[in-house]
Amino acid sequence: MKHCILLCLTFAISVFSGCSNAQSMPDKKILIVYLSRTNNTKAVAEMIQKNLGGTVVALELQKPYPENYQQIVQQVADENASGYLPPLKTKIDSMEKYDVVFVGFPTWGMQLPPPMKSFLHQYNLSGKTVIPFNTNAGYGVGSGFQTVKQLCPDSKVLEGFYTRGGIERDGIMYVMQGNNAVQVSNEVKKWLQRIGQISRNPYQ
Ligand SMILES: Cc1cc2nc3c(=O)[nH]c(=O)nc-3n(C[C@H](O)[C@H](O)[C@H](O)COP(=O)(O)O)c2cc1C
Repeated sequence: MKHCILLCLTFAISVFSGCSNAQSMPDKKILIVYLSRTNNTKAVAEMIQKNLGGTVVALELQKPYPENYQQIVQQVADENASGYLPPLKTKIDSMEKYDVVFVGFPTWGMQLPPPMKSFLHQYNLSGKTVIPFNTNAGYGVGSGFQTVKQLCPDSKVLEGFYTRGGIERDGIMYVMQGNNAVQVSNEVKKWLQRIGQISRNPYQ
């Protein structure tokens, strides 16, 4: 009789746990930091949070970039050429408490944007798992993921995720809506499973 109750309980628990969409890794403190101008990278950050939970933080500068596209392109090109690291307004409370840090950014001039360079210079992520993600206008991530690796030499940097976002140059700003949002969200979930951040659910 005892055995029978135990068996039924085990069965019920396995069925109910199978009802949730995905299971995030237990006991990991997750930070999701992103830079976003037209909100495409922000949308991907929120998709990650939907799957894993964690704290989402937007990177903001002490002196914001110009609204004008040509002007920001020029300023970013100058900053990349000189190695200037723009000071951040954003402060992260007790970075030491996080185990996993997602870093999200658009491709700017085929590179890691200067504010994300500032972030990775300012905060010590050694010993943590670092996971980059990116949106771009269709030209790819450029050197962004390589630079993340270089700036986090003592972190475990996992496979990054990238997808097509807006094309501000052509007036295409936010594209993470409708069918496209559903598709990107599915890709994000598959990627998180592939890199071991959510377990595969046997009931799906
Ligand atoms: C200053 C600047 C430079 C950019 N350079 C590139 C580039 O080199 N390659 C590319 O594919 N997209 C480039 N883009 C387009 C963005 O990467 C793309 O629109 C991205 O989805 C924007 O993300 P966000 O909406 O999170 O800001 C650039 C955009 C800006 C504002």
